Amino acid sequence: MGLHIKHIPLALLLALSLAGCDPVNRHMVLSTIFDGVPTLPEPAQLCVEYNDKRVDELRDQLAGKTVAKDAAPGEESVHRPYGEKKCDDCHDKSKDSGLVRPANELCLMCHKNFFKGAYQHGPAAVGDCLACHVPHNSPDGPLLKMSRTKVCDSCHKEPRAALALHDKVAERKMACVECHNPHDGNSPFFLK
Ligand code: HEC
Ligand code: HEC
Ligand code: HEC
Ligand code: HEC
Ligand code: HEC
Repeated sequence: MGLHIKHIPLALLLALSLAGCDPVNRHMVLSTIFDGVPTLPEPAQLCVEYNDKRVDELRDQLAGKTVAKDAAPGEESVHRPYGEKKCDDCHDKSKDSGLVRPANELCLMCHKNFFKGAYQHGPAAVGDCLACHVPHNSPDGPLLKMSRTKVCDSCHKEPRAALALHDKVAERKMACVECHNPHDGNSPFFLK
């Protein structure tokens, strides 16, 4: 039983979905299936086109939906400017980064006077908000990259000086942010 002709589009669809939306991968899949697929444009040009397309698609998907709310810890959260489709508040297609400001300045552009404590936490102090947050939406509020019980562990694997205390913390499965502020504070370890 050979490959029936009506199965070909399905096979192609499957191949394309396996290739993902990465344009270079897609092109490779296409060119192994068909002859005469034109050669690729310059990579930089491809990325601009790809990103423009993704932004337009996402905008369409969101059209008609009003989704913007602040989240309680652990609850699903949607970033207000994203939910309100103010994509251009952050995105600028004419810039290399695709963003209106470099990533390490972008968040503080709106979150003004963010730091209040005398001590600031390393990654937050340098504007690396994306080390812990995502810009659009997250199943883990407020806009966390991963759950609040995991987000600190991605960097802090070193042994604690206050070992006995932190062993109890681990035992009781407490989140670090129950005691530490993730951004800054008026005590050296940003204790709440
Ligand atoms: C608060 C700022 C902000 C807003 C508002 C925002 N974005 Fe983004 N977006 C970013 C940042 C920052 C990145 C890069 C994330 C990274 O590199 O981890 C990004 C990445 C992207 C990407 C590429 C990565 C991906 O998720 O596929 C697309 C596409 C995108 N945004 C579309 C949109 C659309 C459409 C809207 C409006 C509905 C929007 N963005 C609103 C900040 C924003
Ligand atoms: C265009 C302005 C703007 C930019 C840029 C921006 N934000 Fe926001 N952000 C807001 C607004 C408005 C709110 C809602 C504030 C409120 O309700 O008090 C918000 C809320 C948040 C919240 C709380 C969400 C919740 O569910 O409680 C987080 C976390 C956050 N932003 C992180 C970021 C990060 C990280 C960046 C950079 C990628 C960023 N913001 C860039 C405007 C912005
Ligand atoms: C080390 C990880 C980390 C970094 C870096 C970080 N945040 Fe957060 N952020 C968190 C966590 C965790 C929470 C939730 C706190 C909680 O649940 O008590 C949070 C909460 C927030 C909130 C909600 C309101 C609040 O203050 O609790 C805002 C707004 C916010 N972050 C903005 C930012 C901005 C802007 C930056 C960059 C300057 C940033 N964050 C950098 C981990 C981080
Ligand atoms: C992106 C990596 C990263 C993540 C994620 C991260 N940290 Fe940090 N943290 C650092 C760096 C870098 C320092 C500065 C280390 C130093 O003092 O040299 C630091 C320092 C600290 C300190 C002060 C230690 C001292 O000796 O002064 C505390 C407390 C702390 N982090 C708690 C947290 C908590 C709580 C979280 C989760 C909300 C977290 N960190 C997530 C990178 C990270
Ligand atoms: C029950 C409250 C509590 C929780 C939860 C907690 N801490 Fe701490 N942490 C403290 C206290 C109090 C200190 C200060 C200890 C001291 O002064 O000797 C501290 C100190 C620190 C320090 C600096 C000194 C050291 O021991 O290395 C780091 C880094 C730190 N904590 C990271 C974390 C991380 C990461 C988590 C989550 C896995 C966490 N903490 C959870 C209370 C807590």
